[in-house]
Amino acid sequence: MKKPTPFPADQSGRRRVRSFVLREGRMTRAQRSALDRLWDRFGLDAGQILDCAELFGRTAPVILEIGFGNGDALCHMALADPNADFVGIEVHRPGIGSALLKLEQNEATNVRVACADAADLLESRIPPGSLAGVRLYFPDPWPKKKHHKRRIVQDAFVRNVHTALETGGVFHLATDWAPYAEHMLETLARHDGFRNLAGPGNFSERPDWRPQTRFERRGLRMGHQVFDLLFEKSAVTTSPPLRASINSPG
Ligand SMILES: C[S@@+](CC[C@H](N)C(=O)[O-])C[C@H]1O[C@@H](n2cnc3c(N)ncnc32)[C@H](O)[C@@H]1O
Repeated sequence: MKKPTPFPADQSGRRRVRSFVLREGRMTRAQRSALDRLWDRFGLDAGQILDCAELFGRTAPVILEIGFGNGDALCHMALADPNADFVGIEVHRPGIGSALLKLEQNEATNVRVACADAADLLESRIPPGSLAGVRLYFPDPWPKKKHHKRRIVQDAFVRNVHTALETGGVFHLATDWAPYAEHMLETLARHDGFRNLAGPGNFSERPDWRPQTRFERRGLRMGHQVFDLLFEKSAVTTSPPLRASINSPG
């Protein structure tokens, strides 16, 4: 197996176990040209603190989609919800190129994308309490036991999602890999700052508004069941935030 591309150490100097292996793959001419032409319009400097009011020029609910792949769902959700602003994070540049093309074709004005590891961004670049929603659809399942540590849904990641959400904000996850769905449920249930909207131990119905994604269609073709999880940030929590590097806005 190819060695994962090393990424810089995180803020504390530790080398993070990444939830992805960067295989750039082939980039089409259209994807490359989209990255060149459209990055200034839709791209985010992932090295800065996310200031959505300044970015979008308004105050609106902000939804973060992590690992948007080719951007189908991101674009669909943003067009369907013009009163919200959307930020997408992805590490795979050909996918980002495809997403930029869709955003341009649809003249989307309420979307920005970052090319970054979502775990890094959540840890240090997103002001606490600034997100109305976090969406994580069909993350890489890393099925082998020795790779479970690569799964993006881990205690520290969940704590950082919790910190980034406003009270009442919703963390929405979906997967077609049953053992990962159980892992998600257990990890989220361990965090007492979240309330499972389907009741303890239950998966949610797929909300009508959640678009079907490319990986979801692939899973369905293989006969997999799809699991949705909706967890709301509750008002009171006893879990301390993992990070202390960003001050609360206001
Ligand atoms: C299995 S694909 C799913 C893509 C899309 N959500 C879908 O359902 O079609 C997982 C995606 O997450 C991205 N990804 C994995 N870890 C990530 C991370 N830490 N930060 C940002 N993106 C990540 C991968 O590059 C990949 O595009």
